[in-house]
Amino acid sequence: MPSAAFHAERRSALSAMLDQPVLLMGNGRQARNFPANPLPFRQDSSFLYFSGCALPDAALLIDGDQHTLFLPTPGPGDALWHGPTPSLAALADRYGIQTAPAEELEPSIAALARRPWSLAVSDPRRTALARRLTGQLLEYGPLNGPERLIEAVISLRLTLQEEEVAEMRATGAVTARAHRAAMAATRPGRHERQIAALFDGVLAAHGLGTAYHSIVTVRGEILHNEGYDNILEEGQLLLLDGGAEAASGYATDVTRTWPVSGRFDGRQRAAYDAVLAAQLAAIDRCRAGVRYRDVHLAAGAVLTRFLVDEGLLRGDVDGLVERGAHALFFPHGIGHLLALDVHDMEIFGDRAGYGAGRRRSSQFGLSYLRLDRDLQPGMVVTVEPGFYVVPAILADNDLLTRFQGDLDLERALTWTGFGGIRIEDDVHVTAGDPDVLTAGIPKDPAEIEALVGTGELRLDG
Ligand code: GLY
Ligand code: MN
Repeated sequence: MPSAAFHAERRSALSAMLDQPVLLMGNGRQARNFPANPLPFRQDSSFLYFSGCALPDAALLIDGDQHTLFLPTPGPGDALWHGPTPSLAALADRYGIQTAPAEELEPSIAALARRPWSLAVSDPRRTALARRLTGQLLEYGPLNGPERLIEAVISLRLTLQEEEVAEMRATGAVTARAHRAAMAATRPGRHERQIAALFDGVLAAHGLGTAYHSIVTVRGEILHNEGYDNILEEGQLLLLDGGAEAASGYATDVTRTWPVSGRFDGRQRAAYDAVLAAQLAAIDRCRAGVRYRDVHLAAGAVLTRFLVDEGLLRGDVDGLVERGAHALFFPHGIGHLLALDVHDMEIFGDRAGYGAGRRRSSQFGLSYLRLDRDLQPGMVVTVEPGFYVVPAILADNDLLTRFQGDLDLERALTWTGFGGIRIEDDVHVTAGDPDVLTAGIPKDPAEIEALVGTGELRLDG
């Protein structure tokens, strides 16, 4: 878990970049259906980054070298219903920062020479308070605060310090256990939701939750398939996109795809080998100074070679990649930033993912590339190529017209029902070789085949 000294240094760095006090709001509890039945609480990520505090209804005021964490005063029934609240002094000790009761936030702001800048958070009630206290028009979305504050936060959060990387490596190791257990428990006749429960359960058994809703599906061509509707059948591929979130908020994001029966058939194996080769080629390019779009295109070139060899596309590989024809079967970007958010800092729109002077392409496929910076040591990115046979794409008249000369539609339709394959790891960019934080999760096809179906599913209750 990043230390109190880490958070203090990050606050000082932010303060040094701005000649301006900053108010960072933490989220509060939000009602699920009535206030005493709240949704699971998640602290705002920028708030976590500068405070390490995951308590609801907290606020952080940074004014030069004066940093104060404002915390709610317990209500009369709190000790009875929720247990004793640590004193402000104990919390000051825990977080390594001066603390004050929440009631003092408003007068403290009124006493400042200038009104602080702030950022909207996902909890509308807390954003409304920040709006009232700062007089700014804060709205949760890509421009959720003053531009200079957003740019400063991005520049700090963009590259990770050692403590943060260590946290993600540890979280990756727990994620590995859950993926292995899910592979081992897979068998025809089991249900997607049983594998999902096992995956989430292994994380829980290690004290961790999920960083996002785990995708567990035999319909891997539906990129963000949220439902668990299917019984696993012989001959299908199961795609699992899931990762643990550390108690400190750092995420892992890993996808593996394996055969339900424990054996890839011919087409599955050919496509799997191509996706794996594309992923390995892309990971190898995750080096300082490399433009991330080139990581994406390198994977695209490997996949295009396969698509041409299989007769799905025709033409020369370079031309096909340039026109984006491979996106008919790999329609998303190669990955994204990863840290406290699974798509890190996506709340700031493309400001974090695209550096100054870079804009998203409007080309089909490339338009879904969430990151196009030059990679720097300390960045953590995902690398997640895939191959999907998407009925909606193969029935899209605009696309079919655009890629008429490139696509062999008749041949492509013989792949209908294939589903999808994605292989995803989390890669730490260093001054040297790429550092895969999620190594240890099987992706070699022989290793996967040896593991699938060998384990128990103990969810019978
Ligand atoms: N794990 C889901 C995604 O990267 O979008
Ligand atoms: Mn991802």
